[in-house]
Amino acid sequence: MCGIVGYVGVRDAVPIILDGLQRLEYRGYDSVGVALYADNVIQVRRQAGKLANLRQCVEAEPVSGTIGIGHTRWATHGAPVERNAHPHLSMNGEFVVVHNGIVENYLELREELSAEGVIFKSDTDTEVIVQLIEEFASNGAHGDVAEATRLAVQQLRGAHAIVVMSRRQPDRLVAVRIGNAGGIAVGTGEHEHFIASDIPAILDYTHHMLFLESRQMAIVKRDSYEIQTLGGQSVHALPQSIPYDPISAVKGEFKHFMQKEIFDQARSITDTIGGRVDFENSQVVLPSLNLTAERAQQIERVVTVACGTSYYSGLIGKFFIEQLARLNVEVDYGSEYRYRDPILDETTAVLAITQSGETVDTLAAMEEARDKGALVWSIVNAVGSQAMRIADGYISMNAGPEIGVASTKAFTTSVVDQYLLALYLGQLRGKLAPDAIRIHAQALARLPDLVGRTLELEGAIRELAHQVYSYTNFLYLGRGINYPIALEGALKLKEISYIHAEGYPAGEMKHGPIALIDEQMPVVAIALKDKVYDKMLSQIEQAKARDAIVIALATEGDTVIQTKADHVLYLPETSPLLAPVLSVVALQLLAYDVAVRRGADVDQPRNLAKSVTVE
Ligand code: AGP
Repeated sequence: MCGIVGYVGVRDAVPIILDGLQRLEYRGYDSVGVALYADNVIQVRRQAGKLANLRQCVEAEPVSGTIGIGHTRWATHGAPVERNAHPHLSMNGEFVVVHNGIVENYLELREELSAEGVIFKSDTDTEVIVQLIEEFASNGAHGDVAEATRLAVQQLRGAHAIVVMSRRQPDRLVAVRIGNAGGIAVGTGEHEHFIASDIPAILDYTHHMLFLESRQMAIVKRDSYEIQTLGGQSVHALPQSIPYDPISAVKGEFKHFMQKEIFDQARSITDTIGGRVDFENSQVVLPSLNLTAERAQQIERVVTVACGTSYYSGLIGKFFIEQLARLNVEVDYGSEYRYRDPILDETTAVLAITQSGETVDTLAAMEEARDKGALVWSIVNAVGSQAMRIADGYISMNAGPEIGVASTKAFTTSVVDQYLLALYLGQLRGKLAPDAIRIHAQALARLPDLVGRTLELEGAIRELAHQVYSYTNFLYLGRGINYPIALEGALKLKEISYIHAEGYPAGEMKHGPIALIDEQMPVVAIALKDKVYDKMLSQIEQAKARDAIVIALATEGDTVIQTKADHVLYLPETSPLLAPVLSVVALQLLAYDVAVRRGADVDQPRNLAKSVTVE
């Protein structure tokens, strides 16, 4: 959940770390800090709140040095106040630590250390790590920071990403990854090295990075780095080249990253389709899935695991895979799945969908699947992330960095990836003839253009948002493949505008939620010209009969709906399977405009973080 940046080299580390943190602020943003080694001491600057506060503090009390670490926090233990912000210093100021994860046994460790006379200055679990390191440095590790860290982390329960700096060996940073509390990338440069929890933090400086696996440690100096296991064995690891263009992580003409990312979707969907459909031969090609026709035919069902928006994307994918590949699909929350002792074997393919590739619940579900012998696939946006690495095969979203905490382009590209997956499975399993694939592929090829046309609703949606932004409850209704869009539309609204919103399958209204409807309740109804159109119309009538304000998403050319709903947003016609992509774009814009109108912090909504690396 937190963001970590480290630097060792020949330049002043402060601007590099602060700029890196700026790019990671979307991960956690309740407090922030930096530690530098200079003049034989470790100097720390920390602030509650956002990075701007730290910038002011560093300006008022300057600090510089050629080695340092920084952190932007999403609080788990201890309020978001200065004393709980990272980096945390050891009692004697010999070591300093930044950390992502939860020390599950921190209370026990804290008691033991306190009994030995250690004085704690924060309420965090993280502080036990640095106190343990200082303790082991004097007992057993002979002052060596890597050895002391190795011994200390063996005392910790839970998953962690940790970076340590020492006053005794100020030429190196030590980074450790245990489990799935977030990644550690080591970036290489000339006479300099970088450490980051996420690629965008250091992309301006290097495109050459290697990634720590669980239970590995990196000892990173100005001119060298060494990767070891926590057992002390050397690991041969070469940097890979990361293709992202850092420009795409800049807001440009847009007011918010979320707005930019909504408008990016015609491009990102094009990139997702690119190279994966052979239009001439009516074939889908997904080499990164590592799947043969023989293996595809052994699969008897698919289980999709994901969280939040990615889970809703999985609910749409279920329609694709069942219809196009004729395979049963179950969709489950990553956070629930592993606690059910699920029935899995090699005839099940488990598909994890995760934008960040680091969501701890989704990763745990993947591990459960792997342990039980299932085939494990992932759909991931973050290149090099854990979910990409531990899967038997993956499909990348190709959405480019998504900075806004509310997921938008990662949602639509993951939907498109599942459409490609369904076509591919249908093709390999002999369920789809080339002619059928051609028709579906042509519909897909038109999608970016239709997304572009949907984005032209911008002005109308802004106007609508001005009319409805002050309501405090919203109901979103859909049926069939558009029911998950009702869920996603409601999630978008609640997470960025803090308005209470619920998504419901429209047919369920009469079983309870209709009791909520009155003239204070806007109802957003997805009523496209598909096989449930008539049923949606009757739901709209029932809502209107109870004085709801009905906002309908409708298909271009539908004049009937104008007579039923208060506001109509017309979407271009597309195949029913791909219609959710257009509906969601309109609902993303609606949520965005309502949130802007309410003056909310759209890109960094309260209490949320971009990568959820704690349970
Ligand atoms: C979406 O807007 C959210 N902020 C959140 O629900 C997110 O989709 C979820 O945490 C899963 O993230 P992932 O795709 O990175 O695994």
